[in-house]
Amino acid sequence: MSSSHADALVFYGATGDLAYKKIFPALQAMVKRGHLNLPVIGVAKAGWNLDQLRARAKDSLEKHGGLDPGAAEKLLGLLRYVDGDYQDPATFTALRRELRDAKHSAHYLAIPPALFETVVRHLAESNCGRGARVIVEKPFGHDRESAQELNKVLLGVFNEGDIFRIDHYLGKRAVNNVLAFRFANTFVEAFWNRTYIKSVEITMAENFGVQGRGAFYDQTGTLRDVVQNHLFQVLSNLAMEPPVRSDSESTRDEKVKVLRAIPSLKEKNLVRGQFRGYRDENGVAPNSETETFAAVKLEIQSWRWKGVPFYLRAGKCLPMNCTEIVGKFHKPPTLIPNSRLLENHLRLRLSPEITIALGMMNLAPNGDGLALQAGEMLASHCPRADEMDAYERVLGAAMAGDNSLFAREDYVEEAWRIVEPVLKQNTPVHSYAPGSWGPEEAAHVGPKGGWTTPGESNGLAGTSEA
Ligand code: BG6
Repeated sequence: MSSSHADALVFYGATGDLAYKKIFPALQAMVKRGHLNLPVIGVAKAGWNLDQLRARAKDSLEKHGGLDPGAAEKLLGLLRYVDGDYQDPATFTALRRELRDAKHSAHYLAIPPALFETVVRHLAESNCGRGARVIVEKPFGHDRESAQELNKVLLGVFNEGDIFRIDHYLGKRAVNNVLAFRFANTFVEAFWNRTYIKSVEITMAENFGVQGRGAFYDQTGTLRDVVQNHLFQVLSNLAMEPPVRSDSESTRDEKVKVLRAIPSLKEKNLVRGQFRGYRDENGVAPNSETETFAAVKLEIQSWRWKGVPFYLRAGKCLPMNCTEIVGKFHKPPTLIPNSRLLENHLRLRLSPEITIALGMMNLAPNGDGLALQAGEMLASHCPRADEMDAYERVLGAAMAGDNSLFAREDYVEEAWRIVEPVLKQNTPVHSYAPGSWGPEEAAHVGPKGGWTTPGESNGLAGTSEA
C-alpha cells in the first residue's frame, strides 16, 4: 500500500480515445462524489492549449454519460495542460513547473505501451517521479518477456507499492461480488469444489466489432486483449482460497496461487476464430491471422479444483453483450433415471446485469408421477446510472494508494506464462459469421454437452424468484 493520498493527477494521452471515452467521465464522477479536488494535468502532443483540452473534456462528458453542470465546471477548473513530445525533456521540465508543490503526484500512462519506457525514464530524470506513483494501462507487455522488461523499467524508478497496473475488471463491482458471494456466505464453501462441481464455464460475449481500434486490435487479438487479463481475473476470483488476512497483499497472494496452479496452455486446448469482415476493418492487415474469438480449456491443479475443467471463451461480433459464469454440478446418485435430470448449476452473470442463480430440479406441478422440471432461484440487480463505474473505482483507488484493485508484478507474469506457448504457435484461425457464437471448432475445447448459451433457457423451464 502506498503511504499517502496523491496530491496531483497527471494523465498522458489526454487528447486520446481512452481519455475521451473513459477518463473524463470517471473524473467528473469523482468530482461529483467529492473524491477529487486536486490539480489534474493532461499531457499530450497535439499542439493544443488548455482551452482546447477543456473543450474536449466537455465534449467527452456530453457524449459519454452526460455532463453534470456543477461537477463539470469544477473539473474544468482543476484541469491544466502540458503540450509536448514524450521524447523531449522540455515536456517534463514544463510538467515539473505545472506540478508546483505537489509531493505525491500520480502519473497515469493512458498511452500506447511503446511509450511507457520513454515517459518513465523522463519522469526519473526530470525529478517528476520523486514521491510519485505510476498508473499503467493494459496491455501490460505483449508476452512474458516484455512484461518482465517493463516491470524492470518501472521498478527502476518506482517501488512495487507505487505501481498500479490497471485491469478495469478489478474495478467492476460484479467481479468483486464473486468474492463476496463466496466468502460472505457459509453455504457456498460446501459445494464450491471438485467434489460437487463438474465444470466451470466463463463466457465474455460482445456484440460489436473492433470499433475503430483495428490497428491496436490487430497487434493484440482476443487472448492478449481480454483473456490473459480480464477473464483470468474473473477466474482467479472464482478459484482462489479465502485470504488469511484482510490486507491487499493477502488477497493478491491467493490470486497468484491460482495462476501458479494452471499448466501453460497447449495448442489442443485453444480454438481461435476471426469474424468474417474483420480483415476489411481500418488498420487491419488484409491477410490478418489475429483472433477476434478465443476459446480455451484450462485446468487448475489445486486441492480444490484438480480434475475440474475450466472453459473460457471471449469474442467480438457474437450474438449478445454478456459476461457470465456457469458452474455445473455432478448429478446426484439418485434412483431417478439420469436422463430426466439436468445438472444443477450456479450461474453468476456479471454484465449487463448482476445475477446469482441456482438451477435445480423439482416436480412439475401438472405432470404425472416423477415428471420433473428445472428452475432457477435467482437474485438480480440492474446497475443504476449513479453507481461507480470501473474506471472511477480504479482511479479513486490509485489516488488513495490502495493496491488491491490492481495486478501485481508476479500475477501479470504468471498470466503471460499460461498463454505464452500458444501466442508463439501459429494455431489456425477459423472464420465465423458475425452474430454467431464463434467458429464451430470452439466445441472441441468446450464442455461435452456444448457451451452454455447465456440468455437461453438451457432446458430450464420455470424460474422461481427467490
Ligand atoms: C477492454 C478491451 O480492455 O475491455 C476491449 O480492450 C473490450 O476490447 C473491453 O471491449 C470490455 O470491457 P467492458 O467493461 O465493456 O466489459
